Amino acid sequence: MKALVLAGGSGTRLRPITHTSAKQLVPVGNKPVIDFGLEAIAAAGITDVGIIVGHTGPEIEAYVGDGSRYGISVTYVHQPDPLGLAHAVLTAEDFLGRDDFVMYLGDNLIAGGITEFVEQFEANRPDAQILLAKVRDPERFGVAELGPDGHVSQLVEKPSEPKSDLALVGVYLFSGSIMDACHAIEPSDRGELEITDAIQWMIDDGQKVAERTITGWWKDTGKLYDMLEANRIVLDTYEPRMEGSMDEASEIQGRVVIEEGAELVNSTVRGPAIIGKRTRLENTFVGPYTAIYHDCVVTDSEIEHSIVLEETTITDVGRMEDSLIGKQVEVGRSRRRPAAMRLMLGDHSRVGLV
Ligand code: TTP
Repeated sequence: MKALVLAGGSGTRLRPITHTSAKQLVPVGNKPVIDFGLEAIAAAGITDVGIIVGHTGPEIEAYVGDGSRYGISVTYVHQPDPLGLAHAVLTAEDFLGRDDFVMYLGDNLIAGGITEFVEQFEANRPDAQILLAKVRDPERFGVAELGPDGHVSQLVEKPSEPKSDLALVGVYLFSGSIMDACHAIEPSDRGELEITDAIQWMIDDGQKVAERTITGWWKDTGKLYDMLEANRIVLDTYEPRMEGSMDEASEIQGRVVIEEGAELVNSTVRGPAIIGKRTRLENTFVGPYTAIYHDCVVTDSEIEHSIVLEETTITDVGRMEDSLIGKQVEVGRSRRRPAAMRLMLGDHSRVGLV
């Protein structure tokens, strides 16, 4: 069994972060999203892993490397344009051949990993196995309708009027016959080769498509709010750890991780929260569900329910919530006259003023 991790795509819903960076490398709980997938794959005993990369390929390759630190061996497959999940499978045809593989969307997180699903697939040997989860907003996902026999009869990509609340989770198990399906289908109205169409082709062809409904949490981190929610879920699983330093005026409350070299000066961190390596907090309050990555400086500010990427400086911002701040960003109050906002924002940035 091989694995194919999809780490290309255009990431339009996470702009401006994705203008310059891969969304699969955005950290949740100070850990890049892709790590959760690669670790789950390694834990399932799969070592031969292909990673689909697009325009952010160099960044992904620099981070993941040859995969040895996860205990896997990585082959990179370049997808020139993000033309769909089934297109990604076709792009990887040389790597996959006709072998069984697990396809893992690189921006997805799934509780408890994938070992159980891989074992079920190997025991029952269907042509494909999909994972489903009940969601409140199925119109945002690929949706499965079950037939009278309780098995999947119809898969529809982002239906405007969903006929079920069962969304397709971003982990799929395929036999080699998915390749024929991906070759057979045509691009959808949005111009992509859809994996839902390929699986539907298998169902219509009389092949055995098994489904499992998962009960634990699962997150697709493609949007800001989902990213913050994933961050919340992950932070809740951390054990408190203090590897940095704090002065007498500082305080740590609850489930807090202070990573190596981080420094608290007259600051309070109320968990669940994580403060990254060499990050310095001064006269600052960090509230629950916040992850501040490495080498940041936060001064005279309050931050809660937010993710801050590396090497960012935040000064005297008052209170900030529900935010995702990129790397090497500077946010601060200007005391210069005339008193005015002075902004330099990238394309598709979003600013919420009070
Ligand atoms: P999506 O989040 O569905 O697509 P996207 O990354 O283009 O994002 P958006 O809709 O915001 O523009 O993709 C799921 C995962 O699969 C993600 O990790 C990116 C990856 N992917 C590819 O590798 N190749 C592709 O052609 C597509 C569409 C996605």
